[in-house]
Amino acid sequence: MNIAIDGPAGAGKSTIAKTLAKKLGYIYVDTGAMYRAMALYFLEQGISPENEPAIMDAADRADISICYHKGQQQVILNKEDVNGKIRKEEVGNMASAISIYPAVRTKLVALQQKLAKTADVIMDGRDIGTCVLPDAEVKVYLTASPCTRAKRRFDELQEKGVECDLEAIQKDIEERDYRDMHRKTSPLRQAEDAVLIDSSELNIDEVVEAVYNIWKKRQ
Ligand code: DC
Repeated sequence: MNIAIDGPAGAGKSTIAKTLAKKLGYIYVDTGAMYRAMALYFLEQGISPENEPAIMDAADRADISICYHKGQQQVILNKEDVNGKIRKEEVGNMASAISIYPAVRTKLVALQQKLAKTADVIMDGRDIGTCVLPDAEVKVYLTASPCTRAKRRFDELQEKGVECDLEAIQKDIEERDYRDMHRKTSPLRQAEDAVLIDSSELNIDEVVEAVYNIWKKRQ
């Protein structure tokens, strides 16, 4: 049994997926982390996101896999654990920019599908319900208004003591939404059979409960 959760940046997908994975004993697969690892490789190689031939060539050389340490997903890029390096905004934006290329997507989708064959997974991303796991038993499209998502990200950064600007964060989120929703290959969209949850007015427990109830009905 697989659960697919798609939605835009900052909608709370990973928090919900992690909590539910624990509750249900499923493996949580964060596919964004794989695109981020690929993006990190291109950044380290000094490759511009516009240089498609260089991206195609480098995508072949980026060996990406995941493993689990104390229940936490670790992303391995060419034998190095890069979990600590992929959370920066710069890497997230590069991930969004390079995820338009079929050479990048084909490789990562194959890895994601392989993982879903080995266990019950709850997988989050942008194209899980539409492309990676079209037969997933549970599909959720989790969203929230750009303003809510920006405020959540702002609070998160403030808590970490990182100086930031709410307006700049919202602009960044809107640009990322546009890119992720308008690319040619597997754009972010709600699968026809996905349940829409808008978390703008809901807390984490309420969203977890909503997804849990959908899962329960499918048993
Ligand atoms: O979920 P995230 O912010 O870690 O994802 C970073 C970027 O990776 C996102 O803006 C678009 C891309 N991505 C994708 O194209 N498909 C996925 N399944 C997951 C992420």
